[in-house]
Amino acid sequence: MADKKNLRTPIVCVMGHVDHGKTTLLDKIRGTAIVSGEAGAITQHIGATEVPIDVIVNKLGDPRLRDRFMVPGLLFIDTPGHHAFTTLRSRGGALADLAIVVVDINEGFKPQTYESLQILKRFKTPFVVVANKIDRIGGWVSQKDLPFAATFKKQSTEVQARLETKLYEVIGELYNQGFAAERYDRVTNFQKTLGVVPVSAVTGEGIPDVLMVLLGLAQKFLEANLQYSAKGPGVGTVLEVKEEKGLGATLDIILYDGTLKKGDTVVIGSLGEPIQTKVRALLKPRELSEIRYESKFQQVNKVTAAAGVKISAPGLEGALAGSPIRVATEETLEEIAAQVKSEIDEVRIDTGSVGVMIKADTLGSLEALVHEFQKDNVPIRKAEVGDISHRDAVEASTVEDPLYSVLIGFSVKVHPDARDFLQESNVKVFTSDVIYRLVEDYQKYVKEQQE
Ligand code: GTP
Ligand code: MG
Repeated sequence: MADKKNLRTPIVCVMGHVDHGKTTLLDKIRGTAIVSGEAGAITQHIGATEVPIDVIVNKLGDPRLRDRFMVPGLLFIDTPGHHAFTTLRSRGGALADLAIVVVDINEGFKPQTYESLQILKRFKTPFVVVANKIDRIGGWVSQKDLPFAATFKKQSTEVQARLETKLYEVIGELYNQGFAAERYDRVTNFQKTLGVVPVSAVTGEGIPDVLMVLLGLAQKFLEANLQYSAKGPGVGTVLEVKEEKGLGATLDIILYDGTLKKGDTVVIGSLGEPIQTKVRALLKPRELSEIRYESKFQQVNKVTAAAGVKISAPGLEGALAGSPIRVATEETLEEIAAQVKSEIDEVRIDTGSVGVMIKADTLGSLEALVHEFQKDNVPIRKAEVGDISHRDAVEASTVEDPLYSVLIGFSVKVHPDARDFLQESNVKVFTSDVIYRLVEDYQKYVKEQQE
């Protein structure tokens, strides 16, 4: 086993359909009340929360567990339902080491649930499924914060049967998506079978069980991924570029490898040449609080992976969400800048030949879209991050083949002048916040054209 002190915190991404309870679940784990202060209870931005192992062990109610787990804690990332997890990319994969897929046990699977599963499958990310809102099952008598087995025992036979029925609908859906799944306490091998934990994020029932399964997965993850460490030059992913009063453009990043210090030279991906700048300030949310709710950031001199941190530095305006950020030295600067540029160029496409045009909100979602369309052998003329502009509209309109006189937009806006132009043109426009919808809609369109 590697030195415990150098192990980095695993990154856990919380995914699932809008309103199925991602933020409430994290909230419960944190023991704070972020949801109640949230505008319309909708998560507006991506945030990160570090929960130290001691807090988790406390929730599990067994201090002996402290020594069984090597992980220093878990870094939870809350992805809003309308936002793709794909922003959280890293070179050649997903940023998250583990994930929680939250599904409302009463509503069942929804578009973003399917989307989450497809992404996790593609990246082979280990995850646990949380079947949430069990307190809404007819006749359920809530037992605050109890583990699942204990609260289940206290329910009537009828209510137990009701839960099992709904649970097996979830398990059936998972099966249809290509996952063998079982109620987590019936799983003998978590490598082969997905665990589904019945939970109420509001009453806390089943939360200890989720944490237990997560720590188990984290332990397995660590055994397989010891190359990630807290040492070495920092590497991270840009979650968001944000204007802050008095600071100008700042970056919210997740550092997933190494260390980042105040004064470090960093290279960041942008639409043009990579940005090279010096970190002016590192602003870290306090433990158990969250980037997007922390009004007074804590200035720190350095952060080690994994961590969510806000960076203030000159010249961050053009930074690209989903792009890499890497620490460089005088000696490595040129090489790292070239690597960052090529990483972004690998995702962007500009062939100038015949094909559809794809626009997406972040580098990660663009990468996922390009992947899906290429898988279907759809030729791509251009793939870029950004809203649909007048220029894009004009460019698409010059294509004669109706199959390729097409604009595909993921989580982007259509500029008003582009909209006006498109109304008068033959260009077919598809926009959605769900990747597989865009793929399906385009396939349907192709079929119609060919008939
Ligand atoms: P987005 O961020 O918009 O994607 O939603 P979310 O998945 O974060 O959902 P959120 O946690 O904001 O919960 C949505 C609503 O469901 C809120 O009104 C919660 O109070 C409610 N809710 C979440 N979990 C539970 C639960 O276990 N039981 C009950 N009864 N309500 C829940
Ligand atoms: Mg939320």
